Amino acid sequence: MKRFLTVDDIGDLGQALKEAAEVKKAPYAWDTLGKNKTITLIFFNSSLRTRLSTQKAAMNLGMNVIVLDVNKDGWQLETEFGVVMDGDKPEHLREAVPVIGRYCDIIGVRSFASFEDKKADYEEEILNQFINFAGVPIISMESATRHPLQAFADLFTIEEYKNKERPKVVLTWAPHPRALPQAVPNSFVEWMKVADVDLVVTHPKGYELSSEFTDGVTVEYDQKKAFKDADFIYAKNWASYEQYGQILSQDKSWTVDEEKMLLTNDAKFMHCLPVRRNMIVTDGVIDSENSIVIDEAANRVVSAQVVIKRMLEALK
Ligand code: CP
Repeated sequence: MKRFLTVDDIGDLGQALKEAAEVKKAPYAWDTLGKNKTITLIFFNSSLRTRLSTQKAAMNLGMNVIVLDVNKDGWQLETEFGVVMDGDKPEHLREAVPVIGRYCDIIGVRSFASFEDKKADYEEEILNQFINFAGVPIISMESATRHPLQAFADLFTIEEYKNKERPKVVLTWAPHPRALPQAVPNSFVEWMKVADVDLVVTHPKGYELSSEFTDGVTVEYDQKKAFKDADFIYAKNWASYEQYGQILSQDKSWTVDEEKMLLTNDAKFMHCLPVRRNMIVTDGVIDSENSIVIDEAANRVVSAQVVIKRMLEALK
C-alpha cells in the first residue's frame, strides 16, 4: 500500500475487516515490523484522537514517531504555487514536503478544507503536494474532502456491533455553532456504499453532500422517517456544499434525542468525536447504553494500525 486516501486504497473490505479483527486481538503481534522505520505525522489542524491513535498504532508496530504541528513547530508553510513569498510564510510546501520525506518512511498528514476555495479543497491541493513530492507513502489523517481512518474505524465498529447481516445505518446531520468540513460524512458515505449496509442520509434541504459521494444513496429529508427501524444512528454536522462552507441552519429540532432514538430498532449511537453535547446529541443519548462513541474512538488505533502495517509490509 503506497497511499491511504479513499476507500479504494484499502482493497477488499471483507479482508480489511478480518485484518482489523486480528490486529485488535493481538496488537503487538507485529511489534518488530517497524524496527528502524519512522513515521512523521503532520498536523495543519487540531487533533486528539487522530494524533494519539495513529501514534499508538505506529508504536504498536515498533516504529519511531515524529509529530509536527505546523501551527506551533517549525516554519509557517506556504501552500499556494506562484505566489510572491513576501508575507509571514518563509517556507513553501514544495521544499518542506520532500525534505520531510527524506527523514522518514511514511508520512501522515491532516489538512482540513479551508472553505475559501471549493475547487482547491475538492481537488485536494495540499494533500496532492504530499502525494507528488514526498517520495514516501502518504496516509490521510483527514484531508479537505475525506477522513478515511475514521470511516474505516466506523465500519469496523459497525461490524463489531451489528446483530443482522445487513443493518440499516442512518447518517444524520445535526446542528453545530461552527462551519464544519464535509470530510467525515463524505468518507462515511463512501465507505458505507461499498459495505453491506442499508444506508440512509438525512439532513435539512441545502445540506446535500457532493454527488460524487451520494450518487445512488437514499436521501430522506424527514429525519424521523429516516430513523425508523435504524440499527445505527451516525450523527455529524457539516456545512453546506452547495453554498460552500455556509451555515444554513442551527435548527435544534435536528438534535439527536431520546424521543427520536425510540423510533429506531434500539439503534446504537455513533459520532466521530469531538461532539458538542446538547447541540448534536442530548446528554441522555450519548450517556445511554446504546452510545458506542468511546469504542468507536478506540477503534481508531485498529484502523491506523492496519493501514500502517500494510505500508510497512509493502516497504520490505
Ligand atoms: N475524530 C477525529 O478525527 O478526532 P480528532 O479531530 O480529535 O483527531
